[in-house]
Amino acid sequence: MADQLIIFDTTLRDGEQSPGASMTKDEKLRIARQLERLKVDVIEAGFAASSNGDFEAVQLIAGAIKDSTICSLSRANDRDISRAAEALKGASRARIHTFIATSALHMEKKLRMTPEQVLEQSRQSVRFARNLCDDIEFSPEDGYRSDMDFLCRVLETVIAEGATTINVPDTVGYAVPELYGQFIRTLRERVPNSDKAIWSVHCHNDLGMAVANSLAGVKIGGARQVECTINGLGERAGNCSLEEIVMAVKTRKDYYGLDVNIDTKHILAASRMVSQTTGFVVQPNKAVVGANAFAHASGIHQDGVLKARDTYEIMRAEDVGWSTNKIVLGKLSGRNAFKQRLQDLGVALESEGDVNTAFARFKELADRKSEIFDEDILALVSDESVTH
Ligand code: KIV
Ligand code: ZN
Repeated sequence: MADQLIIFDTTLRDGEQSPGASMTKDEKLRIARQLERLKVDVIEAGFAASSNGDFEAVQLIAGAIKDSTICSLSRANDRDISRAAEALKGASRARIHTFIATSALHMEKKLRMTPEQVLEQSRQSVRFARNLCDDIEFSPEDGYRSDMDFLCRVLETVIAEGATTINVPDTVGYAVPELYGQFIRTLRERVPNSDKAIWSVHCHNDLGMAVANSLAGVKIGGARQVECTINGLGERAGNCSLEEIVMAVKTRKDYYGLDVNIDTKHILAASRMVSQTTGFVVQPNKAVVGANAFAHASGIHQDGVLKARDTYEIMRAEDVGWSTNKIVLGKLSGRNAFKQRLQDLGVALESEGDVNTAFARFKELADRKSEIFDEDILALVSDESVTH
């Protein structure tokens, strides 16, 4: 049996950290229900200690969602961890996700703490959290830019204290795939008892490599949890996109050899819901969920997909929630696509000669108009055709 890749969605926490993407608790609940429909394994519902509103959102989601683990983020201190535990009380399965920065830059300039203090705080926090919850995730923030020896000491310590998931964030999207994958692998090799925890990747998209880095963390590093968001929403340039990573692992199962629980036919609805809620428009050429992801405009491609869809489609549009693929008629379209559209519209022309005449008119129109709609075609053939 293939290994399982755990999908941890943080749209409602890291996604919401995207400037302008803040959501009400009812909006968050609606999205959480859609994530549950998607069969996301872990939903990070918010950061309970950050505000009363977020506390209530985590509480509401924890009470309503039954099929996914519900997680709250918390800094590595007793107050935050207690708030997270309190908000998660109603959950069927709860996780506390605690973090502290471990890079020299963050420790010195932001936390103003010595490495020894950070190590001690990590130990104390995980020990405290473990008394409140069985499922504890620990993240060394800015982990990828941290000193390897120090990071190994911190991670060894938190695993010994009972952390069950170790997440290694590339907080600022600085990683490149091979190096990030190797980084995770080295950590897993060097940290004693590394097999007592599930290893997780959390990549930001500042250089457009969040998905590629996450995949390398899985393939090279052996991570078995990916943190991601719908539409790649998140701080600055965003996080690893759920729809892209899930479809990459599913489509290339021959290479990754992993199973994911996600019910992919709910992906498009989730994308639309997040886009409408936040007002963040999805670009047309966005993989999987963009309007053009399964659209064909060139005559050669249209002819190909009309004969066999896999000539130019590596996934089925229907598998991610589209009703079908799309043949966009325009100046690049060929006679075959035009004829197929006539047939789909129930238009029968008398002879091939009539088809040729109508096609010539269509091409003339297409030079003036960027997209031809069904109404345009019906108007073009209204004299010669018999419509059924
Ligand atoms: O990017 C990051 O480092 C985070 C952590 C809090 C996990 O979001
Ligand atoms: Zn993040």
